[in-house]
Amino acid sequence: MTKIVLISDVHFTRPGTDIIGLDPEQRLAMVLDDVRAHHADAEHIFFMGDLAHRGSREEYARLQHRLTDLPAPFTLMPGNHDRRAGFEAVFGHPFGPSVHDTPTHRIVCMDTLDEDAPDIHSGYVSDTQLAWALEQITETDLRSIVLTHHPLGAVGFDGMDGIALRNGAAVAQALRSTAQVDLVISGHVHRMISGSLQGLPIALVTSPCHQMPMALGPGSSALSVDEPGGYGVLLLSDAGPVLHDVRVGLNSAPPCEDDWSKTEDRDSLFPNQN
Ligand SMILES: [Fe+2]
Repeated sequence: MTKIVLISDVHFTRPGTDIIGLDPEQRLAMVLDDVRAHHADAEHIFFMGDLAHRGSREEYARLQHRLTDLPAPFTLMPGNHDRRAGFEAVFGHPFGPSVHDTPTHRIVCMDTLDEDAPDIHSGYVSDTQLAWALEQITETDLRSIVLTHHPLGAVGFDGMDGIALRNGAAVAQALRSTAQVDLVISGHVHRMISGSLQGLPIALVTSPCHQMPMALGPGSSALSVDEPGGYGVLLLSDAGPVLHDVRVGLNSAPPCEDDWSKTEDRDSLFPNQN
């Protein structure tokens, strides 16, 4: 079984700048400490966009300083808060689609950032990139996992649904038509969400930092709340993908057993059933 760590929406800011009172650098440090402690056997770490809050060189430089001593190689994907020029100036290479193969799955990272989006924050996948993704998915016998920053469709928060992937329905239909995509995983909404879209299984991972409040329906896409941050742990095998939602900073008490949930002695657990 292959373990993959998914971290989305770290939103690094300039020094001394917070997001609704939260420090993104401190929140990411908590997540990375948790990854080092519990998932040092991960094969790869994907940072799924919104690396910086305002796309500045200063923010990317701060993030780069934090991306040391990670337990696995990592890939940096763009989100709507990122800017290509600032990223490339610091990291020395452009954003772009990429592929990572595991023994059972090909992970296809798509670039959904549209810096010219009419509403600033929605995403778009070009015909060229979609054709590239379909080729990557169909040229191998491996099953595929597709990673995108923007979700491909609506998830119930009207504000965020208004800035999802503008051509998400067409992308979902094309991906489903390959019959090789096991799961599409996105970020952007800052909540753990799962479901399916036109028969295509989808999931969203949460952010290490600020969360989308659980207020479905009308509301601003800028709504945020201070709830525990987290990340995703993806397990890949021949049986298919399993995605775990990990929260950090909830409780420092060590794990302990619940007597009623033990499995050793059926008669003592259910003494009056005969
Ligand atoms: Fe975000």
